[in-house]
Amino acid sequence: MSIRHLRNSRIFFRFLFWWILFSCFPGLISSAVVTLDSIEIFNTHEWIAKPTVYFVCKGENGTVLPDVTEKGVVYSFKGEESWQPLTELESKKCKRCGFYEKDTIKSDDVYDEWEFCASDFKAPDGKYILFKEKELNVTFSCPECTSLPAASDTAPKKHDDGNRMHVAVVILISVLISTVTIIALVVAYKYWQRKKRQQDQARFLKLFEEGDEIEDELGLGTVI
Ligand SMILES: *[C@@H]1O[C@H](CO)[C@@H](O)[C@H](O)[C@H]1NC(C)=O
Ligand SMILES: *[C@@H]1O[C@H](CO)[C@@H](O)[C@H](O)[C@H]1NC(C)=O
Repeated sequence: MSIRHLRNSRIFFRFLFWWILFSCFPGLISSAVVTLDSIEIFNTHEWIAKPTVYFVCKGENGTVLPDVTEKGVVYSFKGEESWQPLTELESKKCKRCGFYEKDTIKSDDVYDEWEFCASDFKAPDGKYILFKEKELNVTFSCPECTSLPAASDTAPKKHDDGNRMHVAVVILISVLISTVTIIALVVAYKYWQRKKRQQDQARFLKLFEEGDEIEDELGLGTVI
């Protein structure tokens, strides 16, 4: 009985472990790296020097594309260059990003500025093409973006975020409470079992002693 019980509780704890792991799982893979596949600029705003083209997302450090200096040339990259990856995207949060050209006199020129979202990347190859007439044609690569949770949900609503946060907190608390309850129940059951076994043993020993007493009373002990 105790072996079967041991196996049962082992299976139970394994189940508990995986369950907790999977409840946390979606949070673990919620961002994906984006690399630049190719870029072609159709225009330069600088007259004298060679242009310096850079990519930046709001609130992040920019990436200068060192080789991109000529218009009408397709620059292709392997995704392993020293300045890659360009950025990271989260499943439900777009970023305001853009391509710019450094300007020595005025403020920097804008090639394009747009909302960059993980859901822009289409399966199966995880590519996204940004094209703006007379400005640029860029291909991004992000194979992980297509497998982000609910990446297909293209219309994230602002007021939903608060609700979702609320639901997440409630779920987390329920998970914690049920885990603690289950562990407490298991511990209590184990304790009860051990107590019961001790009582049984005590009763058994008492039975033996009583047997001895009866033997003594009958004087059988002295005969042997
Ligand atoms: C930007 O770069 C600086 C140094 O190069 C670094 O200390 C900082 O953490 C970076 N900021 C972000 C948001 O990556
Ligand atoms: C943009 O670049 C991609 C990849 O180089 C190419 O396949 C596509 O035809 C280009 N589109 C335009 C409009 O130039």
